[in-house]
Amino acid sequence: MMMDSTIIQKLDPVIDEVYKKTGISIQNFKPTFLERRIMYRMRSIGISDYEEYLRTLSSDFDEAKSLYAAFSINVTRFFRDPLVWEKLENEILPNLVKNNENPSIRAWSCGSASGEEPHSISILLDEFSKSKIKYHVYATDINNEGIIHSKKGIYEKTNLENVSSSRMLKYFLKDENQKFNVKQEIKNKIEFEKIDMLKTNRKLFDIIFCRNVLIYYPKEVHQKIYEKFFEALKPNGILILGQDESMRGTNGSNFFELLFPKERIYQKISK
Ligand SMILES: C[S@@+](CC[C@H](N)C(=O)[O-])C[C@H]1O[C@@H](n2cnc3c(N)ncnc32)[C@H](O)[C@@H]1O
Repeated sequence: MMMDSTIIQKLDPVIDEVYKKTGISIQNFKPTFLERRIMYRMRSIGISDYEEYLRTLSSDFDEAKSLYAAFSINVTRFFRDPLVWEKLENEILPNLVKNNENPSIRAWSCGSASGEEPHSISILLDEFSKSKIKYHVYATDINNEGIIHSKKGIYEKTNLENVSSSRMLKYFLKDENQKFNVKQEIKNKIEFEKIDMLKTNRKLFDIIFCRNVLIYYPKEVHQKIYEKFFEALKPNGILILGQDESMRGTNGSNFFELLFPKERIYQKISK
């Protein structure tokens, strides 16, 4: 097998093939991440030689799709990192609607994976709004399977560990297969779209959740993303990153102020 360093030096043919076959650009991902996922695909299909893998990739349409799917690490869960959701409930949301006679809330779950995050947002906003505040959740991911799964809104018990028993009763229906279906009124508030976060032009959000997505991208790409989020948020809008993510080493602090360090909650700076 070629040394790993050879894969990382020769990523262009893979980037080109995936683009040719799926129309999707993977060039923004971290090279080390691309390399790890290529090696994972090579192991999965029993190829040990990188040149042979490149030949397979160029002749086999399904391999380009499988490789692309392998870039979408979609581990997630409902109310992931409970302290973040408590801060939202007790501080962020009350502040957002304070002094607003006709409040409404627009949230974007960016990198929504299999849908646990946008459904958690919709549940939280339903509780908070008590039917008096209008809200809308926009959920995007590059992974089509994730979006299809999200739209169904059916989950295994293991994904619901952080859901309290009162929320379970109020917002889920258990089906005959012992799976949990999110109730329709919660699903109705979410609009799912398969789209790259850098390609959407949606704006005027109060809150953007971009959690556990930036870890797959190098710092130069984070900078473009922060500019995008700055444009997409309303004045004083909120940005939430994942627990292992931060703006250190980027231009993020030109656009955002760190409100709650432990929870990685940022606020758009007024310029
Ligand atoms: C680890 S999951 C995070 C899920 C959820 N945000 C959470 O924190 O639990 C990362 C998701 O980001 C998605 N993703 C990666 N790059 C993306 C991009 N450029 N635009 C939209 N989604 C992206 C992946 O497909 C994957 O579903």
